[in-house]
Amino acid sequence: MDLSVTIAGVRVPSCFMNAAGAHCVTREELEALGRSRSGAIVTKSMTLEPRQGNPEPRYCGFPGGSINSMGLPNLGYLAYADLIPSLRRFGKPVIASVAGLCEDDFVTIAAVIDKSGPDLIEVNLSCPNLPGKPQIGYDPEASERLIRRVRQVVTVPMGVKLPPYFDPAHHDIMAQVIGRTGVDFLSLINSVGNGLVVDPERETVVIKPKGGFGGLGGPVIKPIALANVRAFWTRFEDRLPIIGTGGVTTGIDAFEHLLCGASAVQIGTVLVEEGLGVFERLEQELTAVLDRKGYASPAACRGKLKEL
Ligand code: SIN
Repeated sequence: MDLSVTIAGVRVPSCFMNAAGAHCVTREELEALGRSRSGAIVTKSMTLEPRQGNPEPRYCGFPGGSINSMGLPNLGYLAYADLIPSLRRFGKPVIASVAGLCEDDFVTIAAVIDKSGPDLIEVNLSCPNLPGKPQIGYDPEASERLIRRVRQVVTVPMGVKLPPYFDPAHHDIMAQVIGRTGVDFLSLINSVGNGLVVDPERETVVIKPKGGFGGLGGPVIKPIALANVRAFWTRFEDRLPIIGTGGVTTGIDAFEHLLCGASAVQIGTVLVEEGLGVFERLEQELTAVLDRKGYASPAACRGKLKEL
């Protein structure tokens, strides 16, 4: 089955791609994504300066999910600006994930990265792991100001990666910000920030940064991810493509994201745990579900979730 999809006018050869953060920091990792069946190459969220990130251990898988506090380890935006032109040889979209430690950083990075030729830019408003830096996506005014400034320096389609919201009033407020600022796609959701996993045997937390607090990913967050995809889909429908992220471990999980309104899905925890072969498995599993349900493509079931 043809699992290709279109995001903001860009054809993506498979609806599965890595989430920013998973297997996408170094040249080697990005090139391996290029050779894999990932539908796109999504870079690690880049900052102005190269970063080592937070102290280790900073990722831990547990039954049902993962917790991380990576702290944006990345090569710095100039390195990605150099790399992006050569990543285009893999014949799939390159999605540059842009972050920053302050508003000006986002603008500086976006302006340079835009010129390096990515197909899409994903602006990360939702990293929960920078001590002393609240997630921008939880501040609608700061989000709006930042999106407007970045939008002015970007020529390729630009999306935002949002944190999960837990109240329809917050979905409404952010949907209004998104609607006013010319965003071309949404990535939903980043990890569920500031969870805490405890090892009862050692009587400790399981990651070092921030006293053990970190972003949750994997199966435990799927209902929260689906709720956010659905909430924004109902507010924008076909006018704004959504890349669903959160809890996709099987083809059925991906199908659920599509039903809720996602056009494509990103995978994080399962890519870290299983490696690049996961893309082929997910393609086979999703194809089997779509075949069984009589859908000819991922787009055919998009948003088709029924209420009772
Ligand atoms: C991290 O590097 O800490 C994760 C990035 C993110 O959640 O945006």
